[in-house]
Amino acid sequence: MELPPPRLHSDVSLEAALAGRRSVRDFAAKRLTLEEMSQMLWAAQGLTSRQGGRTAPSAGALYPLEVYVVTPDHVLHYLPSHHRAKVHMTGDRRRALQSVALDQTAVGRAAAVIVITGVFSRTEAKYGARAERYVWLEAGHAAQNVLLEAVAMGLGGVPIGAFGDAAVRRVLKLPGDHEPLYLIPIGHPA
Ligand SMILES: Cc1cc2nc3c(=O)[nH]c(=O)nc-3n(C[C@H](O)[C@H](O)[C@H](O)COP(=O)(O)O)c2cc1C
Repeated sequence: MELPPPRLHSDVSLEAALAGRRSVRDFAAKRLTLEEMSQMLWAAQGLTSRQGGRTAPSAGALYPLEVYVVTPDHVLHYLPSHHRAKVHMTGDRRRALQSVALDQTAVGRAAAVIVITGVFSRTEAKYGARAERYVWLEAGHAAQNVLLEAVAMGLGGVPIGAFGDAAVRRVLKLPGDHEPLYLIPIGHPA
């Protein structure tokens, strides 16, 4: 699936986004546009240099993160190298995801849920046991990018760490080495 190119300018300063970020858990029943979805995915892991650099730093530039977005229609897998998304599943998995995240309604009622996963072996190949720390740190970088971008777009979100790892993998049919690290429900604040 083609994604609209990310916008690189905004009327919201970085400082205003930092000052305005607050966890939002109540969302209006309004979808995200493809532009908004595209911008969230780009903020998480978008390509920003010809050499392969991305919006978030990565230990050894090994890029272990794989990002999905759960929408009312699909589960999409983000492909940073072409700024495209691949349909990973069809159908609405938001309520199923809510049920494996301590039934937190923010997950089921969000317009979209960004799911950050990590492939630990990519980083382990160079850094061994240290890789576990690095991949988790990278998930934090990507998540904060998404949360600040949401503010800049007039949206809101909340980082969610309370979920069953195996259950999320099952609900989203994630490949065995894509370890779920963070769920980020995003939407128009209620
Ligand atoms: C690692 C981590 C895990 C979190 N998990 C959840 C969660 O499962 N559910 C939730 O509602 N909020 C979760 N939060 C959001 C925090 O509750 C929130 O950031 C905190 O209350 C501070 O509020 P603020 O984000 O509005 O500044 C999590 C935050 C972090 C950093």
